[in-house]
Amino acid sequence: MTNADLRSLIVGVEHVVPLAGVRELPYANLDNAASTPALKAVKAEVDRLLEWYASVHRGAGYKSQLASAWYEKARETVAEFAGADPDYHSVILTHNTTDAINRLAAKFPRDNDRSVVISHVEHHANDLPWRERGRVVRVPVSPAGEIDPDELERTLRREGGKARLVSVTGASNVTGTIQPIHELARVAHDHGIPIAIDAAQLAAHVPVEMSGTDERERIDFLMLSGHKMYAPFGGGALIGSREFFASREPSVRGGGAVKVVESNAVDWADPPERDEAGSPNVAGAVALAAAMRELRRIGADVLEDAEHRLTRHCLEGLAEIDGVTVYGLGAGELDRRLGVIAFNVEGVPHALVAAVLAHEHGIGVRNGCFCAQPFLTDMLGIDEEAAQRFRDAIRAGDHSHTPGAVRASFGLYNVEDEVDRLLEAVAAVAAGRFDRARYRVDPATGEYRPAGHVPLRDHELLFNGQPQLMKRARV
Ligand SMILES: Cc1ncc(COP(=O)(O)O)c(C=O)c1O
Repeated sequence: MTNADLRSLIVGVEHVVPLAGVRELPYANLDNAASTPALKAVKAEVDRLLEWYASVHRGAGYKSQLASAWYEKARETVAEFAGADPDYHSVILTHNTTDAINRLAAKFPRDNDRSVVISHVEHHANDLPWRERGRVVRVPVSPAGEIDPDELERTLRREGGKARLVSVTGASNVTGTIQPIHELARVAHDHGIPIAIDAAQLAAHVPVEMSGTDERERIDFLMLSGHKMYAPFGGGALIGSREFFASREPSVRGGGAVKVVESNAVDWADPPERDEAGSPNVAGAVALAAAMRELRRIGADVLEDAEHRLTRHCLEGLAEIDGVTVYGLGAGELDRRLGVIAFNVEGVPHALVAAVLAHEHGIGVRNGCFCAQPFLTDMLGIDEEAAQRFRDAIRAGDHSHTPGAVRASFGLYNVEDEVDRLLEAVAAVAAGRFDRARYRVDPATGEYRPAGHVPLRDHELLFNGQPQLMKRARV
């Protein structure tokens, strides 16, 4: 499949957006690590579902039965996609990865004597929920954010049997580094501890095989989000050991999660229903499954080739621009990284770089700390005293000087032309070829905007009036 073939599989890639000045350009969406646009196959499947949509699991009517079957089929697809073992794993359909991790964390009663082992590169989603459960111990990582299995081994030995779970990311959302998840699983299992993998970044880009070829390398729990894999309908999954789920109280309580309810007693349903109280998100589940089928149809090799090409081109191009620092592994190590590229431009705040890319070049990237503040602080070489000053300023409501980086991240549909536009734009920023005096920072958010820019307001959003939106947004 060519790049153009892949691009044709995605909804909304042809849109032109207004820039500062009376100009417009096709939008280059290089923020796929945050959320990806929808696959056409996903949109088509959701459209089909809506024709037949009805309540799930509680209706005797035909539509209800059909919607229920559709939902259960989606569950099977998720299990297959993740290489789950039907005899061992159970799939709980969630809202996203954050929801999945919180649900898993809720299964661990608070115990201040025992720990959950995470790494220093985790997204806040795989850090904060564990803090409520007892001690959180962090495995140190390399400057590129890689978790070394030997470091995990040392950490678990130091814990001396107090660790209850290892929960680490499958790929960093900051540097794109792919973690050696099966080696980490082996280390955890050798200590008799289960391992959970946050696959929010990994799942759309690299095939995941929870079962592995060797039982010791099995992934016990996996969490993922549909909106990061071309299915933006609020679906996600927590896949885990059925036996574990069956032995714990539900993560959320209510209808649908029970067998018998008396005034003073309840028998909980078996997994996965035990953890799906309330009316499920059928569209989210069906969309997630459709995305997974489409990604499998495209094939892992095709995806890898397309994303490697863009990543190599971008890394090589950025390396040639004076004043640009790129974090993470280089173009020679594409097998160990995703197309998630964090960088900074000397002398230009990350938020200003992102603003110039958006307002003058029609390029969408992310900037900031990427919900990984402790790792970012170290990656940027900020000492504790300076970090404290930044935190104090934020607490006082001033985000203008918050440290961070710019992140460009690719999806299967991006093309080299978009990378070229990014490289040209970054080169222009690094060479000072933009009107710096025109940009103002908003201390409340830390965002930069060109003078005269009018933020979009709700009532101006699309509906039938896209041209109106365009005119209004021009400055
Ligand atoms: C590595 C990682 N984990 C967890 C999350 C949280 O995902 P969600 O916002 O879909 O819950 C993200 C989102 O950016 C992420 O990148």
